[in-house]
Amino acid sequence: MSAWIRTHNCCLLSLNEVGTTVCLNGWVNRYRNLGGLLFVDLRDRTGIVQVVFNPEQNPDLFKTAATIRNEYVLMVKGKVEKRPEAMVNREVPTGAVEVAAEELVIINPAKTPPIYVNEAGEEEETLRLRYRYLDLRRPEMQRNLALRHRIVKLIRDFLDEKGFWEIETPMLTRSTPEGARDFLVPSRVNPGQFYALPQSPQIFKQLLMVSGVEKYFQIARCFRDEDLRADRQPEFTQIDLELSFINRETILSLMEEMMVMLFKEIKGIDLPCPFPRLTYAEAMNRYGSDKPDTRFGLELVEISALVAESQFAVFRNILAQGGKVVAFTAPGCGHYTRRELDALSPLAAKYGAKGVAYFALTEGKVKSPISKFFTDEQLAKITAKLNAKDGDLVIIIADQNPIQALTALGALRLEFGRRLNLIPDNQYNLLWVVDFPLFEYDVTGQRLTSVHHPFTAPLPEDLECLETEPLKVRSNSYDLVLNGTELGGGSIRIHQRELQEKIFKLLGLTAEVTKEKFGFLLEAFEYGTPPHGGIALGLDRLVMLLTGAASLRDVIAFPKTTSATCLMTMAPSTVSKEQLEEVHLLSSYRQGESARQPLHE
Ligand code: AMO
Ligand code: AMP
Repeated sequence: MSAWIRTHNCCLLSLNEVGTTVCLNGWVNRYRNLGGLLFVDLRDRTGIVQVVFNPEQNPDLFKTAATIRNEYVLMVKGKVEKRPEAMVNREVPTGAVEVAAEELVIINPAKTPPIYVNEAGEEEETLRLRYRYLDLRRPEMQRNLALRHRIVKLIRDFLDEKGFWEIETPMLTRSTPEGARDFLVPSRVNPGQFYALPQSPQIFKQLLMVSGVEKYFQIARCFRDEDLRADRQPEFTQIDLELSFINRETILSLMEEMMVMLFKEIKGIDLPCPFPRLTYAEAMNRYGSDKPDTRFGLELVEISALVAESQFAVFRNILAQGGKVVAFTAPGCGHYTRRELDALSPLAAKYGAKGVAYFALTEGKVKSPISKFFTDEQLAKITAKLNAKDGDLVIIIADQNPIQALTALGALRLEFGRRLNLIPDNQYNLLWVVDFPLFEYDVTGQRLTSVHHPFTAPLPEDLECLETEPLKVRSNSYDLVLNGTELGGGSIRIHQRELQEKIFKLLGLTAEVTKEKFGFLLEAFEYGTPPHGGIALGLDRLVMLLTGAASLRDVIAFPKTTSATCLMTMAPSTVSKEQLEEVHLLSSYRQGESARQPLHE
């Protein structure tokens, strides 16, 4: 067996090789024993070729071949032959030839696979994840892995050309404030102390700028303990960069050049450049989202001024409290039945709306439970502003919190975009959202938190109201959005100690906490820090969008489920008492127990 060495990959065989003796390695994708002849589709990572065993030419070989089953690993030697014209298979690239087997080694048998490797993955995803190593044998999964490799390679080459250095930063570190919960790692050597896995390399890449690196990048693994969705994993990969002596334009145009290159190389698409830019305020007002999908219209329109004149108390009260009334037109939905209209309320409620109102335009009339509160003239003004025609439906949401009104209506806009089939499949709308607010209130509504992260620089023109009206301050930040998904985010950073301290203070951090958590960074800022900024793109999301995969899980070799488990290794798992003791978790737990006991006595 050892004398045999693969000469060709399966999918490389064509009419050019006819007459050549080849040695192939691979898995049995499918076999058909027709008695007179036995056909095996042999698969390696390049694709499939048909191998034929003929009992008349070699009865012993045929006997061995008759024992092979799906997913057996084979070594086959044979001659490439042209198939008769009628037998050409135009579905596969090697369909014009076949290999007439002369020798065969069954390297390893396989049990009947629990998933059909040779068919598209129709079974439960849990089964696919349980047997991921088999799932990954599928051509579409191999394509995703190969494409991911290629994308990373293109990015590395691109950034190398531009003078970036790839530098690794620690995995065992202090917690970084990216807004999610940390994964903690107990320290054996330092009892009672913990590392955090990095939510991003944010602080380290800024310190590399202090170190004079000037252009850093990393294909960086990040860890965030947050609630998962189809586009979120607890560990994911960022294309992370940081540059010194630059401004926002430098970074945006560099990223545009990189995306144009990727789309050209991977999809053969010429992206229009520069990408459109929306301010955060514009994105919210027009699309009700800070990551707008601009592949379709249904833009939101504010109608506060128009409804303020009506007799409808709900809207008037909301407006009196500083709220907003916003609407959009769903074309051709004026015929919605009462049931269909009623169904909009729970849908809107899911997105935080306290109510939803509508005007249906049919037969020249406006039909609505609330139309009695409006004069004909007011209704005409509203429908004109919304460009609503006979047969259309105007959907309205009011909320005391303007952002809440816009967000909920933005979600309905997306829902109607899908319902009305307005979202084209093969269109890639990349855009920038800039000038986010620097702060927002946290869930308690009491404390300020950073919209991006605490190292983001405020826009210079807004600095004067930093302490008086912090919520009005905009940041020098930018998000890259593709078809309604946030692909990346970054900012120009603060590079002066005083301003950074002021921000920490506004975020409610005491001087002690600031010193304990960020003392090393503030100290570094005092030793000659260049102005700098950067960005991080979600690699998994980018690959998902470029491959057209439905979920991040399809572009990650070994992903986690939405409950953060790995179904193959069954991680996370319990560990032994000894392991816990070794990292001082069990003993401290026991001490905690005994310390509490007297309370119960
Ligand atoms: P941010 O937190 O916006 O910025 O993250 C950057 C990008 O990473 C991707 N991403 C994720 N992908 C998969 N699963 C997740 N759980 C997940 N979380 C984030 C998104 C996102 O746009 N340090 C800053 C960057 C900077 O300022 O330079 C940061 O991490 O595509
Ligand atoms: P109510 O007075 O709460 O019964 O509401 C009367 C009408 O106003 C219903 O059609 C509601 O759907 C609508 N409505 C109530 N609150 C809102 C709101 N916040 N935004 C839009 N419509 C609302």
